[in-house]
Amino acid sequence: SDIASLGDLRGKRVLVRSDLNVPLDGTTITDDGRIRASVPTIKALVEGGARVIVCAHLGRPKGAPEAKYSLAPVATRLSELLGLPVAFADDTVGPSAQAAVDALADGGVVLLENLRFNAGETAKTDDERAEFADALAGLADAYVSDGFGVVHRKQASVYDVATRLPSAMGGLVKTEVDVLKRLTEDPERPYAVVLGGAKVADKLAVIDNLLGKADRLLIGGGMLFTFLAAQGHEIGKSLFDADSVEACKGYLERAKERGVDLVLPVDIVVGKEFSADTETAVVDADAIPADAMGLDIGPRSAQMYAEKLADARTVFWNGPMGAFEMAPFAAGTLAVAQALVDATAGGALTVVGGGDSAAAVRQLGFADDQFGHISTGGGASLEYLEGKDLPGITILEATA
Ligand code: 3PG
Repeated sequence: SDIASLGDLRGKRVLVRSDLNVPLDGTTITDDGRIRASVPTIKALVEGGARVIVCAHLGRPKGAPEAKYSLAPVATRLSELLGLPVAFADDTVGPSAQAAVDALADGGVVLLENLRFNAGETAKTDDERAEFADALAGLADAYVSDGFGVVHRKQASVYDVATRLPSAMGGLVKTEVDVLKRLTEDPERPYAVVLGGAKVADKLAVIDNLLGKADRLLIGGGMLFTFLAAQGHEIGKSLFDADSVEACKGYLERAKERGVDLVLPVDIVVGKEFSADTETAVVDADAIPADAMGLDIGPRSAQMYAEKLADARTVFWNGPMGAFEMAPFAAGTLAVAQALVDATAGGALTVVGGGDSAAAVRQLGFADDQFGHISTGGGASLEYLEGKDLPGITILEATA
């Protein structure tokens, strides 16, 4: 149920879980997409007269405060984007948080310090999370779950708080789920999926699931080399995950049996080292020299991938095609991004999943509205596509 189910908000203390886990360079936010995406729900609560308590995590601190993971810079940016003052509490459930919440006027906003400075936020068992969940819930009268990027985490602020307060689904989570539902339930065909990123192990479950759903599966990024190895090719010093080779072999066979077009690059941009000024070359995918590492898909592959996306009616993309942050290895990712933009203009539903992919397209100069939807969730959108149960969604349905 949505925010309206919470009734009259005026004067109510509403705890909002947002995903404000943005990339930082020191204290400079390098991509504020997640903060921008959190604004509409916070604004709606402000306009309803609620006293808004925003909580979020940043990075993966180990249950204790660490200055480099402070949400203070995020409070500043959130305030700019909202066009309203945002108070910042130096702790999450301690005296500073309590004082800041007590000081809130109707329509006021406070951001609490990083949830993960408290061991109870991410502890494994319900019991270990209980004390922190009680304290967090104790700050508020109602709860809104709006951090789509964390709904796959069974954590105090995502899951347990919903069992302790009247709860509602925020607009961002609802939008994200609605879009992903269109991908899983009845995608318009051809349905093409582009998967990249470094770690093949993170993508095995989603590949498994997509082999029954997608028409085309295009593989890029560091993970592609384990597929090349599974085909028996030499991959030199490229990324390689020995534990996933058998799984990749199985997927290659299953794709063939099921008539899924599982696409691997035909050429590769290699370098001697993982560095922007390394000597580079374009080689055939089955001829990577022993002393080189693959760092991007090659130009013929980029063109082939663009062609495979050109007539797709539904496209999901997660993970860069190469080390795009270094200019010599950005062309593959750029070509895929451009192909999605073109498909969008042609009326296809295109979804970019994941914090890294979203940051990549913005860094490459694209605007959010050139794509059908840019998901704020990386792991969460993949787990949704895997058909997994997402604790942060299930608990809302159970308690609604
Ligand atoms: C993300 O960056 O995908 C989300 O913010 C979740 O972060 P986590 O993987 O550290 O739980």
